[in-house]
Amino acid sequence: MDKFIIQKSCRLKGRVRVSGAKNSCLALMAASLLTDEPLELNNVPNLVDVRTMTRVLENMGVGISRSEPGKLSLDSSRAEGLKAPYDLVRKMRASYYVLGPLTARKGKAEVSLPGGCAIGQRPIDLHLKGLSMLGAEISTSGGYIYVRADRLNGARINLTGQSGSSVGATVNVLMAATLARGVTVLEGAAAEPEIVDLAWMLKAMGAKVEGAGTDVITIEGVASLGGASHTVIPDRIETGTFAVAAAITGGDVVIADCCPEHVQSVTDLLENLGVKIEKARKTLLVRAGGEMPAFELCTAPYPGFPTDMQAQFCALATQAEGTSVIEENIFEHRTLHVSELARFGADIKVSGRKIIVRGPTPLSSAPVMASDLRASAALVLAALVADGSSEIHRIYHLDRGYEHLEVKLARLGVKIMRVST
Ligand code: EPZ
Repeated sequence: MDKFIIQKSCRLKGRVRVSGAKNSCLALMAASLLTDEPLELNNVPNLVDVRTMTRVLENMGVGISRSEPGKLSLDSSRAEGLKAPYDLVRKMRASYYVLGPLTARKGKAEVSLPGGCAIGQRPIDLHLKGLSMLGAEISTSGGYIYVRADRLNGARINLTGQSGSSVGATVNVLMAATLARGVTVLEGAAAEPEIVDLAWMLKAMGAKVEGAGTDVITIEGVASLGGASHTVIPDRIETGTFAVAAAITGGDVVIADCCPEHVQSVTDLLENLGVKIEKARKTLLVRAGGEMPAFELCTAPYPGFPTDMQAQFCALATQAEGTSVIEENIFEHRTLHVSELARFGADIKVSGRKIIVRGPTPLSSAPVMASDLRASAALVLAALVADGSSEIHRIYHLDRGYEHLEVKLARLGVKIMRVST
């Protein structure tokens, strides 16, 4: 397993390019199962999760080729498989994105129950509710979900869960509904940019989808879908992570190939903390201000503050003047980074759904362990301002969602090294 060795960093300076969005790309890849025609994806990030989804789809007989960096060609014309096995689903929950397309196209699917993960139970009741309301018969046994359906029929489905909307359930049910007979209305739908990106591509494939990006999506089913060529949107969480890296080190960074409007809630908060933000169509200039005041934030579904940026702002809060309160409202256990940040000397504790951080606290280097993708990013950010040389173990978590992170940080002046252990 690899680790990062990171020296306390000077102010980050320079330009960094954002990669394609992991959480859009995984759904777009699964959508290849909806058609026999070729699907071309551009701006595909080179990530462990993308490689896992490639294995899931190849396991089903989907032909996948990476003709050049960032470009994937997918061909499901000879895909007969109906199964996403446990050994792949346990590596990456989003493997269950094959459920919707397989149910709609093949009338059958066999997908391992994804189980929980470090940040919460991660149930999929809303996914299954939506598919069953479209007419699928669903059973579970031996840790697998078995889905059977003749032709799906459109329905009015409310996908609101206890924590609000569900990105995954919206993705799965939206894809299934494109081939259902009649009209489907998804109420309480997720409005994340990744949903809009998927809807754009589905429409390019011939689907009839209206309302993506709002909480009501209307889909008029069609008999079949064609191929398409689509460019994955920029990764908004990588964008936000680099913006915090600039802020926490007092730096001055140009974040290129991003989509500023997708990180509005993040940049608004940074500006309230005195960080200078300049926006162009695909570029963000982030220039740290002086002393940073403490802040409060509550995670919420888009366009609210993204849960995937919560851990990174915990790291930032260690350098803010006063007591910051960070409330996690999406996942029940997204706090594993707290104890690791405390190992750097942070004054941070969990109180129910809130994380309380007192600062500014001079951090000192420490060996720490990554636990999940975004917690790992928070540890990297803390290491940038911790005196001495920090070691971050189990960085395979980072490799799932950040492309060449050490290369990008080194180009901004960070002394970082990947070491195989
Ligand atoms: C997606 O996960 C993202 N993953 C997550 O990013 C992200 O944190 C999350 O959306 C919220 O934005 C991918 O896109 C691959 P949800 P997902 O369904 O779809 C509850 C990262 O770091 N819920 O929107 O699993 C659920 O427990 C990852 O890149 C149900 O109750 O999230 C949670 O409390 C982490 N029943 C809330 O809804 C369901 O059937 C939101 O979950 C489904 C979800």
